[in-house]
Amino acid sequence: MAITAKVRELAAAGKDVIGFGAGEPDFATPEIVREAGIQAIREGFTRYTAGPGIVELREAICEKLLADNGVTVSASEVIVSAGAKQCIYNALMALVNPGDEVILVSPFWMTYADQVLLAGGVPVVVTTTVEQGFVPGVEQIAEAITDKTKAIVINSPSNPTGAVYPEDVLRGIAALAVSRGMWIISDEIYEKLLYDGFEHVSVASFGPEVAERTLTVGGLSKSFAMTGWRIGYAAGPKGVIDAMATIQDQVTSNACSISQRAAIAALRADGSVISEMVEEFDKRRCVLMSELSRLPGVRFARPHGAFYVFADFSEAVQGVACDDVVLAQHLLESQYVACVPGSVFGGPNHLRLTYTVSRERVAEGVARIREGLKSLR
Ligand SMILES: Cc1ncc(COP(=O)(O)O)c(C=O)c1O
Repeated sequence: MAITAKVRELAAAGKDVIGFGAGEPDFATPEIVREAGIQAIREGFTRYTAGPGIVELREAICEKLLADNGVTVSASEVIVSAGAKQCIYNALMALVNPGDEVILVSPFWMTYADQVLLAGGVPVVVTTTVEQGFVPGVEQIAEAITDKTKAIVINSPSNPTGAVYPEDVLRGIAALAVSRGMWIISDEIYEKLLYDGFEHVSVASFGPEVAERTLTVGGLSKSFAMTGWRIGYAAGPKGVIDAMATIQDQVTSNACSISQRAAIAALRADGSVISEMVEEFDKRRCVLMSELSRLPGVRFARPHGAFYVFADFSEAVQGVACDDVVLAQHLLESQYVACVPGSVFGGPNHLRLTYTVSRERVAEGVARIREGLKSLR
């Protein structure tokens, strides 16, 4: 928050800030989707909808889950919320009793830990490292399970690391969930942003025993550049989905009616509406990796998904009294480059760089980081 406030202040003062901070695509929502939203307004589709979402959208989500993810659900096993963030919140509020433990794989999206706390639960953190490519070992997860474990949250592709979990790891986690009676909340919001030929695998596709214990969470914010429209969804066993709907009913009722119509258009559009965006992200990723790899003392694990590089700066700042928060502040104030300190995600001494700026700006941003590192000494 402090970094964001500072970015605004600098930009208002006319400084040319390169933003590696924001976790949202810089592309416009596809035309066909915007048109569907306009059409919904023109038709006066502007009233409350069914709490868990309009049936046409929930059916479109079922079709998508079957076609893309190999997950079979019916409309009554799907809830639409104001973003995947609300889906995860609803899920944790529905599942977690005070004192229940929820396993999180660090570095993680900070919202998970705060939402577990809001639900009265206890986050239990399994730490992964750059050497592991930020993919947890199944045995690490097994060691974290206790009698109080209620759930695990997994996020592949991951924010902030871009890690994509191999299928055998996902199968290992799924087997633990079944044998130890643990829920899996699988946050798959970055599923369409994959590179290097990687393919997305949904744990809920591993068969009924796993699906019975899994909530598959997805959304349109990242894949369709629709962050402001606020549409996410969760699919899983009807009992939990119903409980999530009961909670949502008393908090926000339904997701925006206009956005729900637009979401149907997005899900039914052919893949070409996002392929250009994904190709461009890939090119920027390659520029960012190649520039970063030439910075002395900076290490990172090649990210295969999402739009982040989570880079370890501990060697680069060795001998200087500087943690990641101070480093991010220094880069912003001296070079006008905004990065998010890794400790926010449970990864101290790292910076998260988002490649939601043009290739030229990516290259210039890293050049500025190089200068910023020099001026630290
Ligand atoms: C890992 C992860 N999950 C979920 C979300 C939430 O997305 P939304 O609420 O916009 O659907 C984000 C957004 O940054 C994210 O990074």
